[in-house]
Amino acid sequence: MTQQSDSAILQQYKTLEARFDRAAQMYDATYGPPQPTGQGSPLLGWLRERHLAVLRDLFPAGAALLDIGSGTGEEALALAGEGYSVLGIDISPAMVRQAQTKAAVYGMQRRVSFRALPAGRLALLDERGPFGGAYASQGTLNTEPDLPRFAEGLHNLLVNGAPFVAMVMSRHCAFEILRNLRRRKPDETLKRSDDWQETWAGSGGVTAPVRFYTPRTFAQPFKPYFKVESVRAFPLWLPPVYLHDLYRQDAARFQRWEAWDRRMCGWPGFRAWGDHFLMVLRHTGQPESQTAEAQPGDVVPTAEKVENH
Ligand SMILES: C[S@@+](CC[C@H](N)C(=O)[O-])C[C@H]1O[C@@H](n2cnc3c(N)ncnc32)[C@H](O)[C@@H]1O
Repeated sequence: MTQQSDSAILQQYKTLEARFDRAAQMYDATYGPPQPTGQGSPLLGWLRERHLAVLRDLFPAGAALLDIGSGTGEEALALAGEGYSVLGIDISPAMVRQAQTKAAVYGMQRRVSFRALPAGRLALLDERGPFGGAYASQGTLNTEPDLPRFAEGLHNLLVNGAPFVAMVMSRHCAFEILRNLRRRKPDETLKRSDDWQETWAGSGGVTAPVRFYTPRTFAQPFKPYFKVESVRAFPLWLPPVYLHDLYRQDAARFQRWEAWDRRMCGWPGFRAWGDHFLMVLRHTGQPESQTAEAQPGDVVPTAEKVENH
């Protein structure tokens, strides 16, 4: 898989911005925390709770954090409420406006703020940190066309040794394959290609150009800057996010499966087989080599080039 040209990357940013902008208004009603009215998603609620527990364990109390693909701000606001200070970035200005409105309603603007920016353009961020940790949840980085530049930009913003937690949509999902074999409908299995294709782009119900990763292919662009610390399936034995209504319909059954999920998610033969994998990477101080630096002839991004971003 070769790196895309600069103009293809800009085009992809425009597509992502437009598609996620359109989804922003209804995002919380469908994928937000479950409400007594039936709105929101119990599966997403469960995933966020488990993800937040991992983040709390890793990040020092009160640290400054970066939320990459912050959406409507659910996780950033939860962490801000626990004493962290959080900067969320998101490619969609409409998502950013939703998150800012929620921060204002909860009176949290001093602890949390949001900016419209693609993940691959962190070098353009005014706030230079340094940050004590970062995370990107729900497959945000599966749509980022410039992972090498993202890895370099993130490295420049984090303190030495800081953790970065990435929740990435996997190339293979055991739940999905077994379910469709059992139903004798293998054709309904989501095509999880390792090359760019238009498909389901994570919660939000958005179709966009997406790449799926194995832990090994995802870790590659991070190699000069981060060390992989752990990988687990996330989730393993619960439905993939695009089948979240299945979880709603049979929550009691899936709650029983959660114990198996927790037990098996880190097993070597299984950790690459969830809907997502959760990878913890550790900032390594100086970059291993300077290969990710601009070479003669490279097009270096500038504020003008990325226009609104
Ligand atoms: C699936 S949503 C997850 C939102 C949030 N983290 C949550 O847990 O609800 C993905 C978010 O990432 C944003 N996004 C997608 N690709 C991005 C990129 N390349 N750079 C920055 N944000 C991106 C989308 O606009 C969307 O708000």
